[in-house]
Amino acid sequence: MDDVIKIRGKRKLKGEVTVSSCKNSVVAILPSVVLASEIVKLYDVPDIKDVQILIKLLEKLNIKVSADDDELTIDPTGIRNVDLLDEDVMKLRASYYFMGALLGRFKHVKMYSPGGCNLGPRPIDLHLKGFEALGAKIRQDGNIIEIDAEELTGDDIYLDFASVGATINIMLAACFARGRTTIENAAKEPEIIDLSSMLNKMGAQIRGAGTSEITINGISRLKGCIHDIIPDRIEAGTYIIAAAACGEDVTVRNVIPQHIEALTSKLEEMGVKLEQGSDYVRVFEAGKLKAVDIITQPFPGFATDLQQPLTALMTRAEGDSHVEETIYVDRFRHCNELNLMGANIEAGSGKSVIHGPCELHGTDISATDLRCGASLVIAGLMAEGETIIHNAYHIYRGYESIVEKLRAIGADIE
Ligand code: EPZ
Repeated sequence: MDDVIKIRGKRKLKGEVTVSSCKNSVVAILPSVVLASEIVKLYDVPDIKDVQILIKLLEKLNIKVSADDDELTIDPTGIRNVDLLDEDVMKLRASYYFMGALLGRFKHVKMYSPGGCNLGPRPIDLHLKGFEALGAKIRQDGNIIEIDAEELTGDDIYLDFASVGATINIMLAACFARGRTTIENAAKEPEIIDLSSMLNKMGAQIRGAGTSEITINGISRLKGCIHDIIPDRIEAGTYIIAAAACGEDVTVRNVIPQHIEALTSKLEEMGVKLEQGSDYVRVFEAGKLKAVDIITQPFPGFATDLQQPLTALMTRAEGDSHVEETIYVDRFRHCNELNLMGANIEAGSGKSVIHGPCELHGTDISATDLRCGASLVIAGLMAEGETIIHNAYHIYRGYESIVEKLRAIGADIE
C-alpha cells in the first residue's frame, strides 16, 4: 500500500459511510484465542495492519487461521507455546495481550516487550503487578520479558490507573487461575465488555465488565464460540468529525451512539447539527462553530483517541479551544503538522490551545501516529489546495479502507 495519502480539500462530503469492527476490541480478542481449546469464529474482522500482524503471531504459535472474506476461523487445537521473539511483536502495543493469554493458559511466556504508537512513555507496570498478584514471577532482560508461575491463584488487584490494557491482560491471565480474582478500578471501555462477553460465551466466568469492579472465577478450559465484534467507536467518531468539518449531509452507519456520547455532546456544544438513530449518526452541514474545551478521560469520558481528530475541527471554530490530555501527556505531535497547514495551535505539557478560526492550506505533512494521521486527513479535507500526508502506514493500522470510504462520500483523495 502506497505510503502517501493525497487530498484535494474543500469538497463537500455527502452520503453514507459504514464503520468497521473495533480495532481495540479485535486486537484483544485475537490473542485471547490462545485460551480456547476449540475453534473460534469471528465475523466482520477489519482488514487492518494490526490484525494482519496478530494473525502472523497466532500462526507462530501453530494456531491455524483461515479467512473467508471478513470472517476468520481460528483453530487453536494445535497450539505450541513457542517464544514470541519476533520483531512483529514490537510493531504494535496490543501484542502484549499474548502475555496474559499465554501466562493464563501455560503459566509461562517469553516474548519481546510491545511497541505501538509513539505517545510518550507507555509502561506496562500495572500489567506486571497484576500478574505478580496472581503468583507469577517476572524476569526482564533488555527487551525480552519472561513470566512464569507454578500456580495462578486468584487475588484482589487494585489498578492505580484504570488502564485498558492492564484490565484486559489481567482478565486473560486470571481465566484459569484457582479461585476468584477481583480487579478494582478496572477500565470500563466497551472493548472490555466485548471481550468479556466473548470469553463468557466460551465458558469463562467474568462479571462486572464495563464497571470499575470486575470479578473472574477461574475455570479449567474454554470452548470455542462464534463472535461478532462491536463497531469501532473511534473510527465512527473520526468520520463524524470529518462530516462536521466539511460535510453537507453524511450518515455514519454501524455506530453505537452510547459509545461516543462524550463526542456527540461536545460537537453539539460547538453548534454541529446531528441526528442520532439506534445504529447511525447523521451529520448536517455546519455553519459557524463555537470554540469548546475538552479534557480526555477514561471511558465514558472524552476519548483520548479522539482529541487529535477533534483538534483539526477546532481550527475552524470561532475563539480559543482548550484541550487537556490526562491520558497521554505527549499526544500533541499532530499540532506541529496542523500549524504547517496554517493552524494556530500552542501545545505543551499535557495541554493545547487552538486559536480559531483559521483557514487551512494544503502542504506536505507527516503522520506521526495513528490518530495524528486521522487528524491530518480531516485537516486535508478542510484545507484549500492539495495536502500530502507522508507515513500514511500509521493510518492504515486502524482505519480499514479509509481512502475508499472517504472517496465514496465525495472526497478527492488517493
Ligand atoms: C488502549 O491503550 C488503546 N490501545 C489506546 O488506543 C487508547 O488510547 C488507550 O487504551 C486509552 O483509551 C489499544 O486498545 C490497543 P491504557 P492502552 O493502559 O491499553 C498508563 C489507538 O489510537 N499506563 O489505558 O495502552 C499509560 O502510560 C490507541 O487506538 C501505565 O502507567 O492504554 C497511559 O498514560 C492509542 N502503566 C495510560 O495509563 C500501565 O501498566 C493509559 O494507558 C499501563 C498504562
